[in-house]
Amino acid sequence: MTVGVNPKQRKIAMNIMLAPMEGVVDHRMREILTAIGGYHSCVSEFVRVTDSLLPAKVFRRISPELNDAGSTPAGTPVTVQLLGGNPETMAANANKAIELGAPGIDINFGCPSRLVNRKAGGAILLKNPAHIHDVVKAVREVVATDIPLSAKLRLGYDNTDLAIDNALAVQAAGADFITVHARTRADGYKSPARWGWLARINESTHIPVVANGDINSVEDYLRCRQISGCDDVMIGRGAIATPDLAKQIRSQQQDIAYKPMTWDEIRPLLLQMGQSMEATVKDKHIGMRIKQWLVYLKRDYIEAQRCFENIRKISSFSEIKNIL
Ligand SMILES: Cc1cc2nc3c(=O)[nH]c(=O)nc-3n(C[C@H](O)[C@H](O)[C@H](O)COP(=O)(O)O)c2cc1C
Repeated sequence: MTVGVNPKQRKIAMNIMLAPMEGVVDHRMREILTAIGGYHSCVSEFVRVTDSLLPAKVFRRISPELNDAGSTPAGTPVTVQLLGGNPETMAANANKAIELGAPGIDINFGCPSRLVNRKAGGAILLKNPAHIHDVVKAVREVVATDIPLSAKLRLGYDNTDLAIDNALAVQAAGADFITVHARTRADGYKSPARWGWLARINESTHIPVVANGDINSVEDYLRCRQISGCDDVMIGRGAIATPDLAKQIRSQQQDIAYKPMTWDEIRPLLLQMGQSMEATVKDKHIGMRIKQWLVYLKRDYIEAQRCFENIRKISSFSEIKNIL
């Protein structure tokens, strides 16, 4: 199957994005996954904006790629994600991110955290399309039109009543595209993601809608595109569970034969992750990180399950290294 041309105005040239995942997809994971290939772009973990202009070091900590023209070593651009509800400070911080070299800005309207929601940021704003509009509009005013501006929405807070209104608010405020995680906040991360809703939002908007939620295989990708009508997708947990998922999808799109990575090819990536942390992170925290990744990998690789069992009781990476 070849990828059709979306009649919508496009500012994203290809169509697989790596999702932001706080505590999971950091710059190390982005480096590993984009080196495997298939990703058009990534979105950073969120920079939390409250009532002040944040110093450059905060942006550089969350997206160290800013020190490297805003791209991973493989050359994949990393959009900086901002989370907050104050239009003025969101605009000021977006401006700062751009000055620091961010190749794009994304605004998070999906974070379910109670703490964040209590401070009027993340998914709570899905209850108020006018507020979403004000935040996106203020940010658009400082983000030049040659720099992509997007917003990441869920379908709603506790129901889908405002799903389309929220998407229209983002569009009216001048965003270039919208990413929709096809669940409400109340849905959490429950499967199945509601791809049918993506179709309704896609049909109601003229800017591209990027489909997100439960794309864990090439088959899911094809089905999601068919149901949602969205050309572009964003992949979250599936990208961690199947490190070459974007490459598998790209090969399918281009009709190129591709042999999915084997466990023997995945295992060195775990070592690479651990070793890249050795200079700066405590040994036991590296061990936790390796186990965290193995929990995702267990879904596709039986060997990851065995490996997890072997290291379950070991906390130090120095010891885990020998087993890996
Ligand atoms: C551990 C974790 C951390 C996440 N962190 C963020 C984040 O920082 N910003 C954001 O917009 N979404 C975040 N998300 C949501 C994902 O980007 C994505 O929308 C969600 O996981 C659904 O996609 P999936 O089914 O492909 O995983 C996070 C999800 C998880 C599971």
